[in-house]
Amino acid sequence: MLILGIESSCDDAAAAVFETARPGIGKVRSTAVANQDDIHRLYGGIVPELASRNHVVTMMPVIERAMAQAGCKLCDIGGIAVTRGPGLVGSLLVGLMCAKGLAQATGIPFVGVNHIEGHLLAPLLEHEIAMPYLALVVSGGHTALFVVEDFGRYRRLGSTRDDAAGEAFDKVAKLMGLGYPGGKIIDDISQRGNRKAIAIPRARVKNSPLDFSFSGVKTAVANFLRSAAGAATCAEDLAASFQEAVVDMLIRPTIAAAHAIGANTIALTGGVAANSRLRERLAQALQAEHRRVVAPALRYCTDNAAMIAMAGSYRLLRRESDRLDLDAEANLSL
Ligand code: KG4
Ligand code: ZN
Repeated sequence: MLILGIESSCDDAAAAVFETARPGIGKVRSTAVANQDDIHRLYGGIVPELASRNHVVTMMPVIERAMAQAGCKLCDIGGIAVTRGPGLVGSLLVGLMCAKGLAQATGIPFVGVNHIEGHLLAPLLEHEIAMPYLALVVSGGHTALFVVEDFGRYRRLGSTRDDAAGEAFDKVAKLMGLGYPGGKIIDDISQRGNRKAIAIPRARVKNSPLDFSFSGVKTAVANFLRSAAGAATCAEDLAASFQEAVVDMLIRPTIAAAHAIGANTIALTGGVAANSRLRERLAQALQAEHRRVVAPALRYCTDNAAMIAMAGSYRLLRRESDRLDLDAEANLSL
C-alpha cells in the first residue's frame, strides 16, 4: 500500500509517500518539506499565525512535490495519514483540511495520527527493532520516555516537568544572541568549546528518577550571562558547558528507565535526537552495558511526514479510517 503522509503540527509543512505491506516495515519513496526558519528567525521563535498562514500557501505544493518525486498519482495512493495533534491548532488544521479534502474528493481512506506516536515509530523507518523498546522523545515541544509495547500501545515512564529539552536549547541560544532555531547552532559551536569551562548545575526531579527538568539550566545560563564572568566567557565554552549539562540530564533518566524495564534497545527520536553529543554520549553509555541505541537519520529526527505515514500505516493496513468530522487537538495526549 502507498501511504501519503502529511505533517503540519508546527512550522514545517511536510509530505511523504511511504510504501508498506506490513506494519513497521516499508520504504520511504519520497519526502518533501517547506521549512519556515527564515520567517520565524526574525522574531526569535515561532509565531503561530505566520506558521499557519504559510502552511496555507505551501502545503498543497509540498504534497504535489512528494507525489511527483515518488512517481505516483492520487489514484495509486491507498491511504492518507495526517497529524491531528498535539501542536499549534492553526497549523494542524491546514494539514488536516488538506487530507480531508483529498479524502473526500477521491474516496481514499484517511487516519489522524498523534505527532508523538510519529516520533516514537520514526526509528522503524530505517531499522528493524523488536518491540517492546524504550524510546526517548526529545524535541522542541516534548521530552519523555516511553515504552513502545506494540503499534498503538505506548506506556509513558517519565517526562519533563517544565521545559522541553529543545525549548531549553532554543531559549539559551536566544539569550546568547546566537539566532534561531538554537539547537543546531549550539551543537555546531560546542564542537570548538570546552565542556568543563563553566559549572552548570544538573537538575533532578525529587523522588522521580525518570522525569526531567530543564528550566533551572536555562536560568543558570541567564544568571551567568549577567555576571562579570559571563561577559568575559566565549560563546563556544558556554554553549559546550550548557549542552553537556542537558545531555547529562537526558542520559541519567534514560539509563535508569532502561534498567527498570530491562530494555536492550533504546530509540532516540525527536529534533534534539539530531544532537551530536547526545548521540555520542548515549551510545557510549549504553554500549558499556551491551545495550543498543538506535537513532533515525537526521531528516527523520526532526518533524517529517514519513514518520506520520509510518504511524498511520498499521491502521490503514487494517482498513481502518477516520470520519470527515475528525478534529485537530492542540493538546492531544498519547
Ligand atoms: O521534532 P522537532 O523538529 O519539532 C518539535 O516537534 O518540536 O524538534 C525541533 C527542536 C528545536 O528545539 C531545535 O532547536 C532542536 O529540535 N534541535 C536540536 C538540534 N537540531 C534540532 N537540538 C540540539 N541539537 C541539535 N543538533
Ligand atoms: Zn516533533
